[in-house]
Amino acid sequence: METTNQGNNLTYRFPKNFWWGSAASGPQTEGAAATDGRKASIWDYWFSIQPECFHNQVGPANTSNFYHQFKEDIQLMKETGHNSFRTSIQWSRLIPDGVGEVNEKAVAFYNQVIDELIANGIEPFMNLYHFDMPMCMQEKDGWESREVIDAYVNFAETCFKLFGDRVKYWFTFNEPIVPVEAGYLYNWHFPNVVDFKRGALVAHNTIVAHAKAVEVFKKLNLPGQIGIILNLTPSYPRSQDPEDVKAAHIADLFFNRSFLDPVTKGEYPRDLVEILRERDLLPTVEAGDLAVIRDNPIDMLGVNYYQPRRVKAKEEPAPHDAPFMPEHLFDPYIMPGRKINPHRGWEICEEVIYDIMVDIRDHYGNIPFFISENGMGVEGEVKFRHEEGFIEDDYRIEFIQEHLKWVHKGLQEGANCLGYHLWTFMDNWSWTNAYKNRYGLVEVDLTNNFKRTIKKSGRWYKRLSENNGF
Ligand code: BG6
Repeated sequence: METTNQGNNLTYRFPKNFWWGSAASGPQTEGAAATDGRKASIWDYWFSIQPECFHNQVGPANTSNFYHQFKEDIQLMKETGHNSFRTSIQWSRLIPDGVGEVNEKAVAFYNQVIDELIANGIEPFMNLYHFDMPMCMQEKDGWESREVIDAYVNFAETCFKLFGDRVKYWFTFNEPIVPVEAGYLYNWHFPNVVDFKRGALVAHNTIVAHAKAVEVFKKLNLPGQIGIILNLTPSYPRSQDPEDVKAAHIADLFFNRSFLDPVTKGEYPRDLVEILRERDLLPTVEAGDLAVIRDNPIDMLGVNYYQPRRVKAKEEPAPHDAPFMPEHLFDPYIMPGRKINPHRGWEICEEVIYDIMVDIRDHYGNIPFFISENGMGVEGEVKFRHEEGFIEDDYRIEFIQEHLKWVHKGLQEGANCLGYHLWTFMDNWSWTNAYKNRYGLVEVDLTNNFKRTIKKSGRWYKRLSENNGF
């Protein structure tokens, strides 16, 4: 395993202090689901009633064991070149009843993780919500409830006060559109509702919760910065035919700008509001909501990028009596010749990352942002095991390199990109896909006590970070 470009002889050199690291989340890595006072999230509950909805019936109880192995893991982060790392604080661990008493064991755990990261020269990035609603809060109607917004803001404030002296980069939500799509539109996740109008309310209330958390953070006058992490999936039309272009614009409004515009510009896109108004799908907006959104733009943005969305004009109109879905306004388009990750089934299109950078530069005031997730999931990765025991994942190294070439181009053209975080540090539990698709720089062997082994990509990532380029 050697690099072709060392030290000064780099083809792609990145700015000084560029963030190299990875992202993960509490529920997907900590395990210890019922340990030290943590209570159930919707994931624990859903698994308890429908384990068949999870790949190989593997649930969230013992995800990757970070709760017990974090010290070893942080050493492995060092060995794989991390100068920064994102995880999330589990609401169901810190405040097990959603509101009220703070769990001192959870405080001790997160303090240790943060301190250990800092002691090892790794900047902790903390996210506050990664799809993990405490079950007691879901029983109060989750994001459909104003009471839950208030409880979340209280949780956020508690985190800022407890850890804000050391954590400099905060994120209110990871991919907040996913709980809307998965939980209220497409029947992928609990609570398995299919109802656009309820989904719209969940989306709006999430944005209000985000803005209120940003407001509280600013009031506390802490040294750090706050942002949100959005999965941006740019929409490309099949052709330049105006009908295809319009279809792509509408998909973009629903799936990107619905969150991106309010958190950066402080307002919803007018044409999205119009589309919803015409169909009587606007959520209830309470007095003060639009003002709090307007007055609390983020400091910086995290961009998760995996694949583009390709669309074409609708070929058949949706049936009149069908409950509304965004896909009533466009059709998905399968582009001939597209490159596919055969181990996950997602399209790979590297230059899209550059398009996102240019879009943020030109249409979002060139706000500071970083690539907060990008990565390659591989099913059945053990088949790539080298005779010396490590996973020989050259495909992942190539995947990262090919994306970084476009990140580099975006940087050269003035985009304000501060870093690159891979999804993910070690193989982890991924919701209903459980451990099916492996994404880590470090392998986790579920059959052998969660044994960690650095993959070839992990060794390469260290050189990438040390050289600050490749
Ligand atoms: C990201 C999410 O979008 O995709 C992660 O933020 C998730 O939480 C990851 O694990 C990978 O998803 P999957 O379905 O390929 O395992």
